[in-house]
Amino acid sequence: MEEKMKVTMEKIVNLCKTRGLIFPGSDIYGGMGNTWDYGPVGVELKNNIKRAWWKRFVQEEVNVYGVDAAILMNPRVWDASGHTQNFSDPKMDCKSCKQRFRADNLIEEHSKGKESAEAMTTEQMEEYINLNKVKCPHCGNFNWTPIRQFKLMFETSRGTLEGEKDVVYLRPETAQGEYVNFLNVQRSMRAKVPFAIAQIGKAFRNEITPGNFIFRTIEFEQMELQNFCREEKSFELYEAFKEKAKKFLLDLNFNPEHLRFHDHEKLAHYAKAACDIQFYSPLGWEELNGIHHRSTWDLSRHQEYSGKSMLYTDPVTNEKFIPNVIEYSIGADRLTLALLTEAYDEETLENGEIRVVMHFHPAIAPFKVAVLPLQKNLSEKAKHVYSILSKEFMCDYDEAGSIGKRYRREDEIGTPFCVTIDFDTLEDDTVTIRDRDSMQQIRLPISEIVTYISERVKFN
Ligand code: GAP
Repeated sequence: MEEKMKVTMEKIVNLCKTRGLIFPGSDIYGGMGNTWDYGPVGVELKNNIKRAWWKRFVQEEVNVYGVDAAILMNPRVWDASGHTQNFSDPKMDCKSCKQRFRADNLIEEHSKGKESAEAMTTEQMEEYINLNKVKCPHCGNFNWTPIRQFKLMFETSRGTLEGEKDVVYLRPETAQGEYVNFLNVQRSMRAKVPFAIAQIGKAFRNEITPGNFIFRTIEFEQMELQNFCREEKSFELYEAFKEKAKKFLLDLNFNPEHLRFHDHEKLAHYAKAACDIQFYSPLGWEELNGIHHRSTWDLSRHQEYSGKSMLYTDPVTNEKFIPNVIEYSIGADRLTLALLTEAYDEETLENGEIRVVMHFHPAIAPFKVAVLPLQKNLSEKAKHVYSILSKEFMCDYDEAGSIGKRYRREDEIGTPFCVTIDFDTLEDDTVTIRDRDSMQQIRLPISEIVTYISERVKFN
């Protein structure tokens, strides 16, 4: 499906900056590559996305347990996970134009996605690039440096005395916080396999390739969940999770044609299956989340490196085994970007004007309702209505400018309902409620608006 999207990355970046969603990081200092700050509107959007995820994957499940593990972990964790040895990007510099590229991306772009460099060694990647005379996408020359591996983990140090500092890492994924708490959670919660551990938290990667707004950043949030299960049940669970992950996205109003499964053909040596869900973005088809069958690799490695037994004892059969892991991982920022591009629309109104509107699912909309007095001298009544609504919902309040312009502003940040206070409100305690998508207006008593809105902003 190669439809032309109305939305471009440029339009999204502009809207995010002008409407308080997302600003360049350290903006007044000229920014810092691949960092972004969420503004007053954006922080609400991202929090709502994280809340919807937690509700669906943790709250509504009986056997999923949430944790919030430390970002800084014992460095042995990263030896066990393989990150200290293997977590790097293969980079090549073009000697003619001095641009730097990822060798695996060059191969995938050159082969139009037919070759996957994921399981290739450095030598195999160099061989492919040389045999196929892959040219620099920037200047068109074939003049490469050899491939060099750039470490992706950020290092910092701890210790008080100079010279006695130990290296520690900012975690590059949240998953390890879930594996290292397998025993703690299983015992304290008396959890029976199959069960899962989930968390939402920051991860850090020293990404030096272009980030494309919040698609790829050096600091980002992940929403990850590790299912611990018996081997016999593992493929069933893997398939079920692919569907569950997709359903979550569809329930957030994704166009089904903008999502697809991408099953990996070449797998890491320990993996038994792997799949991404890709979304159709202004950049083309891109990875949004991953579902991976990781066998017993993670728990076995932590058993080996920590010396602690990761054996689980079945309470009925007394059988002892190390559970298999089905991992589900999605970036909160990348999902925010995907939902921004999905929600964006430009509608031509009857009078020929273009209305920019974000059709967010109401549950993730930054503000559920905006309170708008028709004129400034109605502000006392409007503030009274705001005080009722703001106890239940995140609300916006705006009394500046024409009502038409205020509606447009709310449409651009995806506010599903606007409540307008007019002179009749002073007489009969009723207000107008305008629906973002249909632009239809109805009149309701103030006493009914909380119920009216509550019923329409749930995420089920
Ligand atoms: N524990 C598995 C893991 O971390 P991953 O494919 O490297 O797997 C999972 O990351 C998800 O995290 C990706 O699908 C993406 O949504 C998000 N992600 C990864 N790197 C990112 C980055 N640099 N910036 C923003 N999101 C990122």
